[in-house]
Amino acid sequence: MTALLEVDDLHVRYGRIPVVHGISFTVPEGRVVGLLGANGAGKSTTMRAIMGQRSATGRVRFDGTPIDSLAPHKIVARGIALVPEGRLVFKTLTVEKNLRMGAYALGRTAFWQAEAGIDEVLTLFPELKPLLRREAGELSGGLQQMLALGRALMARPRLLVLDEPSLGLAPLVIERIYEAVLLLKSRGTSILLAEQNARLALRSVDYAYVLQTGQIVEQGDSEFLRSSSRVEEIYLGGDVESSTPSPTAS
Ligand SMILES: Nc1ncnc2c1ncn2[C@@H]1O[C@H](COP(=O)(O)OP(=O)(O)O)[C@@H](O)[C@H]1O
Ligand SMILES: [Mg+2]
Repeated sequence: MTALLEVDDLHVRYGRIPVVHGISFTVPEGRVVGLLGANGAGKSTTMRAIMGQRSATGRVRFDGTPIDSLAPHKIVARGIALVPEGRLVFKTLTVEKNLRMGAYALGRTAFWQAEAGIDEVLTLFPELKPLLRREAGELSGGLQQMLALGRALMARPRLLVLDEPSLGLAPLVIERIYEAVLLLKSRGTSILLAEQNARLALRSVDYAYVLQTGQIVEQGDSEFLRSSSRVEEIYLGGDVESSTPSPTAS
């Protein structure tokens, strides 16, 4: 059985400095797969390489077809959407325009005929409904994260690539975001999830890979990784974000 996303021997460097050293992993259709690792491990770099935003060597296949030489917008059009670290919403555009921008990779028509997609996003995140005309930069971090997720969904991805969605957010908001992630999974969207907060991620992933300085040092299902000393090391060795209390805490 071929996986939806297959990454094989991926190497990425910044200038002459190698940062990702030949990693291989897969995301099977309909699964949530985690990329865990401390700050600086190479999670974002890996995600940007998959999205065609960084040049890399190695093979990336999506649905059996190589995508490693495609331009970023073509990769989005194939069915992969990134929710970048730090959300990167268009701060001076309205919430509605941000959502429309997410559909733009599907073509100009999709930008102008985005109503159905916007309605779906508002069903997932009703919080955004009264804010459609507001500039995205005025929103709280949590609402910007919902918007960034909604913007990615506007491209109707089969695979959602989520880079540290919990970063800097309050526990209740993190809970909201992860609730949405699991709802998307239940609707058949496959998800690649980067988190340095391993304990949080392990509650949602089916399987995960642990990255340390650009190499996969451990992998397994969440039950296995929960008892892994490598994960414990990362959890304890992480920064303030990794010690965010569990979202179910009061
Ligand atoms: N634009 C960049 N230029 C040079 N080095 C970078 C750049 N972005 C990240 N790095 C380095 O690459 C390594 C991996 O970073 P990153 O992929 O952001 O890790 P993570 O997402 O796991 O925190 C780190 O050592 C980081 O300092
Ligand atoms: Mg990162």
